[in-house]
Amino acid sequence: MLVFAIETSCDETSVCIMDKNKTIHNHTIFSQEVHQKFGGVIPEIASRAHLEILQKISKEAFLKSNVKIEEISLFAATCGPGLIGPLLIGSTFAKSLAIGCSKPFVPINHIESHVLSPTYNNTISYPHLSLLISGGHTEIYLVDFKKNISLLGESVDDALGETFDKVAKILNLKYPGGPEIEQFAEIGNELEYNLPTPMLKDQSLNMSFSGLKTAINLLVKKNKINNKFISDISASFQLCVSKILISKLLKTITKLKEMSINISSISVVGGVVNNKYIRKKIIGFGKEKSVEIFFPIKEMMSDNAAMIAWAGILKTSKEEDIFFKPNPRLRIK
Ligand code: KG4
Ligand code: ZN
Repeated sequence: MLVFAIETSCDETSVCIMDKNKTIHNHTIFSQEVHQKFGGVIPEIASRAHLEILQKISKEAFLKSNVKIEEISLFAATCGPGLIGPLLIGSTFAKSLAIGCSKPFVPINHIESHVLSPTYNNTISYPHLSLLISGGHTEIYLVDFKKNISLLGESVDDALGETFDKVAKILNLKYPGGPEIEQFAEIGNELEYNLPTPMLKDQSLNMSFSGLKTAINLLVKKNKINNKFISDISASFQLCVSKILISKLLKTITKLKEMSINISSISVVGGVVNNKYIRKKIIGFGKEKSVEIFFPIKEMMSDNAAMIAWAGILKTSKEEDIFFKPNPRLRIK
């Protein structure tokens, strides 16, 4: 069984051909650099960029992998959440191919595909927690014995990746800000600035990150902006957000224990997982609490079609639906 999958929920145009035994025949990720000069994604520009490149990379995927389109048995595409224009482009393209080839189409929830991504390369016991840290979402999910995914806690304002991007913009760094801040932080002193950790003492499992950019904005106004300042702020910022994530994970495990749900595994997914410092901090927390920590493979961390293909493979035929309408606010049922 071969799947052809498309991801176009935001600013990555990605296609993947994967077979049921997990072999990836082609995986192409085209990151739209056109947004860099705006310091954030412009939806209309993203739509146009998807239109320009999607057909080309799809054609090349078949040519490079030597797979014929007639050999594809299932077409899959992200149908939400995300930007409506980009979602419509990717899903309509995949549906058209499915109709043309008389094969089924399966709609994929982008968040669900992030949550499922580490099951491609790991055997994770149930129930487990999934911490999603991406540009659009910062959420803690419980994945139970029946593999049902339920939301336990989330950021009440900015997502963590979004916070990285906004802080980078304040510091005059490039977009996306995550990799930039990570690099500066490597040579910074993380104890130089004591940044606020809102909602840390709060009993809920929700988080808040928007106050961080305000605090950093004030520091930028008071200090001389040089490489040392940027490095120290970046390192202090990474320490601060790691504290928030770890404290909320601990609270979640403790709360679940009181309900007789024992968590021995946590998977961490989404673009911010690229951050080695955050990974190390969460691994350290796992060791301390005897909880196994899992991550997806590198190419399934940031937005990609391989996780869409993998989610498609895990779907049943009942979930095929050529009439599924893309939904920018699609939630996990
Ligand atoms: O999962 P993703 O590709 O897209 C969404 O579904 O949102 O995540 C993109 C986010 C961006 O905000 C980007 O700054 C962040 O992931 N990111 C990082 C790093 N690499 C990407 N954040 C921190 N450190 C990184 N190395
Ligand atoms: Zn994503």
